[in-house]
Amino acid sequence: MGFTVAIDGPAAAGKGTIAQRLAAHYGFAYLDTGLLYRAIGRLAAERGLDLDDGEAMGAVARALDPAVLDDGSLRGREAGELASRVAVHAPVRAALTEFQRGFARRPGGAVLDGRDIGTVICPEAEVKIFVSASPEVRARRRTDELLAKGRAVDYGTILQEVRARDERDSGRAAAPLKAAPDAALLDTSELDIEEAFRAACRIVDASPHPRSGA
Ligand code: CDP
Ligand code: CDP
Repeated sequence: MGFTVAIDGPAAAGKGTIAQRLAAHYGFAYLDTGLLYRAIGRLAAERGLDLDDGEAMGAVARALDPAVLDDGSLRGREAGELASRVAVHAPVRAALTEFQRGFARRPGGAVLDGRDIGTVICPEAEVKIFVSASPEVRARRRTDELLAKGRAVDYGTILQEVRARDERDSGRAAAPLKAAPDAALLDTSELDIEEAFRAACRIVDASPHPRSGA
């Protein structure tokens, strides 16, 4: 039997950090679903395709080789922007559904993070967590992250990017960013990483379902 932890929320809320920690703690596999959209956006841009053409983007998504997800540069700002543009298309989302659901039902348990895991991909997930933080806190985190990597960035620009991505992700018709009605809400605005992780563990441990292997 699988055990799925679905983690959703806006950019830089702390989803990935929490998801990775949970996966390590419970011995579950981890999938950062944002990488799928990032890879499609990157491939489409490299090929000079029209990112607003839903059918063309769907074709790129159907041909996606998950091996490309290992490319660390996908986590950058530019790929994030491209990702949110291709993610609005229903054919793109449809092409990725089966792969994500297969991952989620792995016998040893799985943690997936993204925007629509609890609402569309895994509505039956044993645990759903919606991670949030104010746009200002998220922009500060992203700015600090980039400064730590030696990049010259400006907080105001990052805040604008965060707000624009929130709007695109929440306002789209296909699988918009929103909390599932049965998701636990975890606001990390005032929490450091350790506190956020502990809060997430309490949510998993309080789930009425037995843990895989338990
Ligand atoms: O995956 P997502 O975009 O939601 O966020 P993340 O990559 O996990 O976190 C974004 C940045 O915020 C990272 O640099 C984290 O170390 C930091 N963070 C934090 O400072 N405090 C938290 N409670 C969670 C994340
Ligand atoms: O780490 P961060 O939250 O900045 O971004 P990400 O999770 O890698 O997602 C990049 C973009 O992909 C998001 O802004 C969404 O537009 C899209 N995405 C999505 O639509 N559905 C998902 N399950 C994951 C990402």
